[in-house]
Amino acid sequence: MQIDVGLLKKFEKGLDPARPEQSRIPAIVLGYGEISTIFEIQAESAMNLACKRLPIFRTEAEVTRYEQIYRNYNETLKKKTGISLPEYDFAWFTTGDGRIIAFDLQQKLPSSSICNRAISLMNTDSIRTLFMLVLRELYKVWSYNAAHPGDALGIDGQISNWAIEDFDPANPQISNEARLLYFDTSTPLMKKGGVEQLDPELFMRSAPSFMLWLIRWLFLEGVMTRYYDPRLVTIDLIANFYKEQHPEMVPVLVDAANGFFADEGSSLLIKPLSEKEIRAYYSEDATIWIVFLALRRFDRWLHRYILRKPYLYILPGNIKR
Ligand SMILES: Nc1ncnc2c1ncn2[C@@H]1O[C@H](COP(=O)(O)OP(=O)(O)OP(=O)(O)O)[C@@H](O)[C@H]1O
Ligand SMILES: [Mg+2]
Repeated sequence: MQIDVGLLKKFEKGLDPARPEQSRIPAIVLGYGEISTIFEIQAESAMNLACKRLPIFRTEAEVTRYEQIYRNYNETLKKKTGISLPEYDFAWFTTGDGRIIAFDLQQKLPSSSICNRAISLMNTDSIRTLFMLVLRELYKVWSYNAAHPGDALGIDGQISNWAIEDFDPANPQISNEARLLYFDTSTPLMKKGGVEQLDPELFMRSAPSFMLWLIRWLFLEGVMTRYYDPRLVTIDLIANFYKEQHPEMVPVLVDAANGFFADEGSSLLIKPLSEKEIRAYYSEDATIWIVFLALRRFDRWLHRYILRKPYLYILPGNIKR
């Protein structure tokens, strides 16, 4: 991958975090995650690149450590578990005023092929087929983890983290042979000798400092550990269909998942899931993120009007749930 670090530096210099599309070098927002924003910089040398800006590092040691884990995580997923990923790279630099800015870079995938977009075109049968394909991909990671528990990989199976290769929105059906790409690798959770490699504190830095104790508790107990747990990853994936405005799919997918864990995935010994459990999980999870985002907006307001300091993070607009 050819990366123009000079362009990234120039982009950063003229970035308006409140309105990225009106920055000196404009950027189109490709998507919002729960924590960060992904955009395409509108310049020749950044065409077809998905740029994920990480303004969270305080020292060179921190960013180089992250880069090592990020690359290692991507390589292990690709080579050891057999999951497919888009082409990727990483770049970082120090700005004129001494801030460290890092970018996870990825080949940009067609927006209609991103699964949360694609399912809006699909019928129930196709969504069910897609869901089974996702479970099969996840199973590659879970089998790897079962064989190497000390070096387990965390994975976030949500539907918005996958893309369908060669997807044709004009013919939005999907077969069992379709290939999926996993692209949400910016939180590279992985263990080595049983020890988590990624410092979760890094990902709390976008949170208001006055609420760190709450965030720390939510993250460490709830959010970070669930990515290693096949049952919780599956519950999270299914519950996500409420957020994606497909509540009618939840019972269908609970049924499909139970079928999968009774058959192909039986080695994992997963206790059957129930719809009630998914609903309870969703209302708790949605609350966590709504509160988190509201606190960050309040923090941005504090920075602007009270502290009169620049607010460096990009926040999503209203997320429909
Ligand atoms: N390579 C890509 N090509 C096109 N769109 C992308 C790409 N990567 C991300 N996106 C868009 O941005 C959205 C969020 O991306 P992603 O899942 O990587 O980040 P995230 O959920 O914020 O991750 P995290 O919460 O781990 O920081 C995706 O659902 C998708 O719409
Ligand atoms: Mg994501």
